[in-house]
Amino acid sequence: MKKSVSIFTVFVLLFSFAACGNHAANERLSSTSAEKSDTQNDSSSSAETGSKSLVVYFSWSGNTENVARSIQSQTDADIFEIVPAVPYSGDYDTVVDLAQEEQRTGARPVISGSIENIEQYDIIYVGFPIWWGDMPMILYTFFDTYDLSGKTVALFCTSGGSGLSETVNEVKSLEPNAAVTEGLHISSDSSSNPDNAVSEWLND
Ligand SMILES: Cc1cc2nc3c(=O)[nH]c(=O)nc-3n(C[C@H](O)[C@H](O)[C@H](O)COP(=O)(O)O)c2cc1C
Repeated sequence: MKKSVSIFTVFVLLFSFAACGNHAANERLSSTSAEKSDTQNDSSSSAETGSKSLVVYFSWSGNTENVARSIQSQTDADIFEIVPAVPYSGDYDTVVDLAQEEQRTGARPVISGSIENIEQYDIIYVGFPIWWGDMPMILYTFFDTYDLSGKTVALFCTSGGSGLSETVNEVKSLEPNAAVTEGLHISSDSSSNPDNAVSEWLND
């Protein structure tokens, strides 16, 4: 009964934010190439600046990316976008179904590219949208791939209504030797103007 209520709640949230997510996805898909080359540029400048912080994020429709960019600009961190080797469809319903299937099967979608010299970073900010009450499975690929022992890991997420859910505890168990801090949740509606919330969180 409890599980049915939870699944129903998730569905209500999904439908509430479907229109917004789809619109943003279309905008984002039209500028994918530019974003990719930005990411590579940001990444290559990291060695020159010697920065010790890195923002890693996955974003399907652009909300989490806004937050990632805000963190990057306020911390002068390097930035790496998690880009799936097989791109997700731009169609909301298709992605909703696929995301559920990936969660059900424990999939590990392949990440395109990799982070060079992750050892150089002391603080890693990791951001994602909440998908079906959890991190998208490609985040599990990320945590499987990189050993973040000894680092501070700060999670941030955007979602239609769910908070960070169990993701902080999940990452604590995936990275038992990292210091996982209190995470930041920003609702989809507020994600286009995240600077104040990000600033407060960073100060904390
Ligand atoms: C596949 C999928 C599953 C989602 N599941 C949830 C959910 O369980 N709870 C919720 O509040 N929002 C859910 N959402 C809404 C997203 O978390 C929200 O729109 C988020 O801000 C999108 O971030 P992005 O633009 O960075 O991709 C879901 C969206 C998608 C596409």
